[in-house]
Amino acid sequence: EIPVITTVSGLRQYRKSCYASNQKVGFIPTMGFLHDGHLSLIKKSLEQNDVTVVSIFVNPSQFAPTEDLDSYPRNIDRDVALLSSITNSKDKKVSCVFAPTVSEMYPSGIPLDVKLQKGAFVTVTGVSEQLEGSSRPSFFRGVATVVNKLFNVVQPDVAYFGQKDIQQSVVIKRMVADLLMGIEIVVGDIVRAESGLALSSRNAYLSSDSRDKAATIYKSLLLAQEAYVSDKEYNVEKLTDIVKKKLDTFPGFFDVDYISFNDVDTLAYLTNVDPKKGCILSLAVSVPNDVTFPKNGTTRLIDNVVFKPV
Ligand code: PAJ
Repeated sequence: EIPVITTVSGLRQYRKSCYASNQKVGFIPTMGFLHDGHLSLIKKSLEQNDVTVVSIFVNPSQFAPTEDLDSYPRNIDRDVALLSSITNSKDKKVSCVFAPTVSEMYPSGIPLDVKLQKGAFVTVTGVSEQLEGSSRPSFFRGVATVVNKLFNVVQPDVAYFGQKDIQQSVVIKRMVADLLMGIEIVVGDIVRAESGLALSSRNAYLSSDSRDKAATIYKSLLLAQEAYVSDKEYNVEKLTDIVKKKLDTFPGFFDVDYISFNDVDTLAYLTNVDPKKGCILSLAVSVPNDVTFPKNGTTRLIDNVVFKPV
């Protein structure tokens, strides 16, 4: 089985041995409950690096008090077993798992309401306020802060993120560039279930019937993309209507938070798509939980497609 390191000092010691042997280190930060989306990023790293480190840490500072920190699915034994079973074409395996405790990662503590956090953290302005940030005000501060901490400990050469959380990858790239971190950021494609539903640890909150219905999300995005490519539809209002209409296949099932068209670099909101630049079409919807969890209510799902320049 893969070694699991739970302390910052332990991981630093491991990292030192990699420097000594001049090994290139790839890193995949996760919150665990691993699925094929995570594994696709890990496999990429196995191909491109000598050493691959995977972190599993459910980061409290990116959850608002009303969100699902307590019920977020966790199963470290299953995750480690899964990671132990994957090898690449050259028989390479994940080198170690970093699974720190909250007190290792937040030695000065972390308040339940993250808005009250004191001390040092990372804020990436300009790309953190729109989309996910407008619904979850402290979310990207929590993400950027924990990823910075993880980078400081793991000191990777390359780090891997998924297009599933496209704004997160924009925020991290900006942090790395502006703070001169010198880490290469690779963004991997969205891995989907056969139905088209983007894989997510939070899909565990949904029954198979709800997951089938939720597959409409991706179908709605593809319809808009089709209108952009084939019908040269560049009007955002009209493209949005296409998405909404498809989601109405199941009246009342989807509670739409946003359907949005944004610039691929700046995330600026668009009212018309410039076909020479393309755009990101992203959405967030809530659907009813139907698997019982401590905090029963709704599950928020996000997905996106990138419209290429035409
Ligand atoms: P988590 O949701 O566990 O995701 C870890 C990484 O896997 C992220 O980069 C995410 O974009 C990617 N990922 C998730 N679902 C995917 C899918 N269906 N296809 C491809 N990639 C997918 O994102 C986080 O954790 C956290 O915010 C973290 C970066 C670890 C900071 O706490």
